[in-house]
Amino acid sequence: MAKLYLIEETGKTLPQPVANHTRLAFPFEKFNALQSRFALEGLHTKDCNVICTWKTGTGKTVCAYLVCEAAMRRNKKIVYACPLKSLAEEKVRELRKLFPARNVEVFTGDYTDIEARRERALRADIAVVTTELLDSVSRTRLVSDVLLKNCMAIISDEAHIIATDRGPSLEGALVRISTANPAVRHVLLSATVPNGKELGSWIMALNGKDTYVLTSSWTPVSLKWHIVEVKPRKPRKEWRREAINRASLLVRMLLSSEPESRILLFVWTKGEGRLICERLAKEGFRCAFHNAELELDDRLSLEEGFDDGSIQVLVSTTTLAWGRNTNARHVILFGEKRGLEDVDGWDILQAGGRAGRPGRVDKGDVWFIVADAEHAASLIKEPPEITSRLVETSPLAFQLLGEIPIKGEITADKLFRWYKKTFAFRCIRDEDPLDLLIDALDLLERCGCAVTDSRGVVRLTNVGVVARRFYVKPEEIHCLCRVLMKIKEIPDSEEACDLLSILFTAHSASQTKSLYLTIEERAELESTYVEEWRKKHRGLILGDVHAYVAYSVKSWHFFNSQNPPQPVPFKAREFVYDMERISEVCICLAREVFSLPEDTIKAMKKTSVILRYGAPYEAGELLEIRGIGTKRAVELLKLGIRTKKQLIDSVKGKMRDRVLKVVPLSVLKPLLEEEEPIVESAFSF
Ligand SMILES: Nc1ncnc2c1ncn2[C@@H]1O[C@H](COP(=O)(O)OP(=O)(O)OP(=O)(O)O)[C@@H](O)[C@H]1O
Ligand SMILES: [Mg+2]
Repeated sequence: MAKLYLIEETGKTLPQPVANHTRLAFPFEKFNALQSRFALEGLHTKDCNVICTWKTGTGKTVCAYLVCEAAMRRNKKIVYACPLKSLAEEKVRELRKLFPARNVEVFTGDYTDIEARRERALRADIAVVTTELLDSVSRTRLVSDVLLKNCMAIISDEAHIIATDRGPSLEGALVRISTANPAVRHVLLSATVPNGKELGSWIMALNGKDTYVLTSSWTPVSLKWHIVEVKPRKPRKEWRREAINRASLLVRMLLSSEPESRILLFVWTKGEGRLICERLAKEGFRCAFHNAELELDDRLSLEEGFDDGSIQVLVSTTTLAWGRNTNARHVILFGEKRGLEDVDGWDILQAGGRAGRPGRVDKGDVWFIVADAEHAASLIKEPPEITSRLVETSPLAFQLLGEIPIKGEITADKLFRWYKKTFAFRCIRDEDPLDLLIDALDLLERCGCAVTDSRGVVRLTNVGVVARRFYVKPEEIHCLCRVLMKIKEIPDSEEACDLLSILFTAHSASQTKSLYLTIEERAELESTYVEEWRKKHRGLILGDVHAYVAYSVKSWHFFNSQNPPQPVPFKAREFVYDMERISEVCICLAREVFSLPEDTIKAMKKTSVILRYGAPYEAGELLEIRGIGTKRAVELLKLGIRTKKQLIDSVKGKMRDRVLKVVPLSVLKPLLEEEEPIVESAFSF
């Protein structure tokens, strides 16, 4: 019988730090007291689960790396799940340094090429994944079999994510993985889990292993919180102006008393981040704005700049708030609200926890600028308890989708038994869990993904199979289907194309959580686009927001070919990132479910390429040529070349030299060879 062990370290019970029980080249001599406890208990080698809830900066990652080491010694695999990409990047760098002879593979955001993923999963000794990827992988036996068969442990870093809207993907994945392979150990890490015991007993029930819940109030560096109240509270704009003044005053004060110290200033919205950064720059501080809009290289160079001191104040969205290690001596938190809502307690405490890190900065101060001191104090007192979001219909339906077999059927009873294994089942208070399950099945049915017959047998529809295969939420595939149905009725392929770009963007928009329009944007949208669009596609109401997105992406991809090219805005980049997957989903639906004509499918491919590359519409055919991207396509358009045939003809004719300046011979050769075999010496440069 498995047991739940609670190891609570108070100041008095801490063991003496021990020298490293490891061959890993950590950048320090001794484990700290908590890590020593971990090592002395042998929690890295024992066949058990661990829920580690020590405070921020206590070195929980080191314990996770010890588990990795134990796995490598036994030639087993490790899956390391990180919620944030930037944290995943940090872990990958560290893991590659600590395990130079091992294969550390990263899996993020690609849901389509299963064969390639399977290959990489086979090769990986340590697979670093995002939580969504873990969920998606665990639904595909082809990949999960190779990844999990020989896996010793899944490490879930920042496990409080379970309580956020991205939590169901981790929860669903852990249940699925434990059902498929109960031998896999679970290691959950988070500084902001006050109810580790509850989480522990759920994990213990999942795989039947002894489970250790580690708690402690000990911190390696002293972290002091200061609440800075700024009034007046209303209107918000006024408060913001005042608060920005206070933040800049604070920065001046902190840097004049400790000129060498670094300050991380967290904001909860990008708009505020930009405003503050502009203000600080104006006042002569060396500052920069770190956010998800930046490319990886730019983000890394800002982080380096902050580490080496060339940046004094790094303004950041929550991209750096969870788990990251920097040289920040001070953290300033800008406000307790995101829009009208309170910021989650986890975000506040995690962000504050970035001040002072062992081995880097020996103490930390957090300056929490707020509108209401009393309320703010209640937010930082203790993080909220971790509860499951799988009690909500929509995420539950999405998880159920992963439980219904692609071929064959499953009974509702069996699905209910699955539900009993979730953490959600332990969190349900007043409702009847069976009702929740029925609501979710009902949603699947309404979205056209599954049918339940009178005997309580559940089957996926063709649409459901596509949704499951491509990891698309039921409501979203429903939205795609509705538009595809309309397209079926449109005889004109040009018009269908227009609709297709809206379809793609609309879908992406539905995944973008915060899409706020300013009054000006809305007015512009209504006068220039929505009315026209509505007239044209009567009855096809996807909402103004979607239309706006379609509009803005359209203007983006039409005008981005300007010289010099404009930087691609974040939202557009997000769409582009998703475009490949969405177009695959649409093409699959178009062929297998709606039997759309090949012409339309061709148009779909073209639209997706155009949106992905951000090129003018006329460049569609050129972009399908390997080696031709937006830049080259735009140059060719300037030469009057729009099609593959025109390109080939121009190379053979008078335009040859001008074309070769734009496109190298190596790109053209395969095209020309398709036409007729050529001899290379026929070309001169
Ligand atoms: N025994 C040690 N001695 C000195 N420094 C250490 C020790 N253990 C860890 N560190 C350093 O402390 C820093 C914080 O470690 P780590 O990122 O593992 O903390 P954490 O507990 O995961 O914090 P968070 O909850 O914020 O994610 C790292 O820079 C790490 O290298
Ligand atoms: Mg951590």
